[in-house]
Amino acid sequence: MNGRCPYPLDVTGQDVHGEAKALREQGSGIAMVELPGSIRGWVVVAHELAMELLISPKVSKNPRLHWPAWISGEVGTDWPLASWTEMRNMATAYGTEVQRLRSPIVKAFTSRRVRTMEPYIERTVRHLLDELTRAPLDEVLDLKRDFAYRLPATVICDLFGVPEQDRAALLGSGENAPDSSVSPEKAEADIRAWHEQFSKLIAFKRANPADDLTTDLINADVLTDEELIGTLFSVLGAGSETVVILITHAVLNLLTHPEQLAILREGRATWEDVIEETLRVESPINLQPLRFAVADLHIGDVVVPKGDPIMLGYAAIGRDPDVHGASADDWDITRADKRHLSFGHGVHYCFGAPLARLEARIALPALFERFPDMRLAVEPKDLEPQGTFVTNGHKALPVVLRSGAATG
Ligand code: HEM
Repeated sequence: MNGRCPYPLDVTGQDVHGEAKALREQGSGIAMVELPGSIRGWVVVAHELAMELLISPKVSKNPRLHWPAWISGEVGTDWPLASWTEMRNMATAYGTEVQRLRSPIVKAFTSRRVRTMEPYIERTVRHLLDELTRAPLDEVLDLKRDFAYRLPATVICDLFGVPEQDRAALLGSGENAPDSSVSPEKAEADIRAWHEQFSKLIAFKRANPADDLTTDLINADVLTDEELIGTLFSVLGAGSETVVILITHAVLNLLTHPEQLAILREGRATWEDVIEETLRVESPINLQPLRFAVADLHIGDVVVPKGDPIMLGYAAIGRDPDVHGASADDWDITRADKRHLSFGHGVHYCFGAPLARLEARIALPALFERFPDMRLAVEPKDLEPQGTFVTNGHKALPVVLRSGAATG
């Protein structure tokens, strides 16, 4: 088909940007790939084409309507990415259903509502930094686990009123979903686990209503139980893991680009510049599962056949040389045009973007102010990739916050 061979995606995501480059080299802005399970799929790698396809009615996120292999049962819940197709929510909906499923939740995340959370997020950051300050001088700690993760995890769990003792399990189920390399048994077990955990949360909140977004969603009485489960699963997962990756990449880039850190400290660039350039160069979502061609798509000399799965290659799109020129791969906070699609585009645009930006905008300056001599504790090349193609993160970010020599 199309005279090309599908590029077998590395399910362990060892070299996200190397792979993005290989996909781009296929030309046409869309690359034919092999998904887990030897399924033919496509990855969109060009900015302009992504903008077009993300608003096209010929592209759907609903596998129950538009993915023949899912409808026939040829692909089932033991497929490694099945969590992305099995959930019932706005992210597996098509047409007017998308708005129906988004509307009960988006209003809680408008820029105006999110701005009111500023004092609470500042307090949370201060508390986490106070805890970090207790670490002994020269100690190596994992900034991802001990800071970048804890902030968005705390914020999203507080917003949804998740009881303290259930937080690790509920967030853990969302963290498993990006794993593109799981075994069939684990894929099925993961789906069962998140289904059960979120059913339990809903039952608990029905019995113990409170001033939180889970109770609000239940009281709105517009979602079925399956939709409630799917919505909570996706919001808690999407609302934590991605922000962790944004914060860790921003820190990593600042620590490995001292000249850019100096520009920032001299006031010649802003924290917003840091955040947007990080989102562009290191899109937290690498390959977004999953869309389907509603009809044959004719893209240049390529035909994407009706029913084929498509992923958005957000990490590649941020570095599109047709938009950002020969320096597209460089992290440069002074770059004038930092355009990116790392929060998506069109009907599925991320409604968590204002919250994500606010969390990063508060966390990053506070961290660098508290620990001005923070340094990486490993060579950047020794950082381990997260181990999936869905997201673009690292397993850990080992740093030394304060060294004896620096503080005298
Ligand atoms: C830096 C942080 C974040 C990044 C990079 C990010 C990225 C994205 C992207 C690219 C999409 C579109 C997916 C697609 O193409 O189908 C999306 C959708 C979504 N995001 Fe985020 N997100 C972030 C933070 C958040 C937060 C904090 C929340 C929770 C409040 C959230 C909740 C969601 C949900 C529920 C969707 C699905 C929307 C739909 O399908 O209609 N995200 N996000």
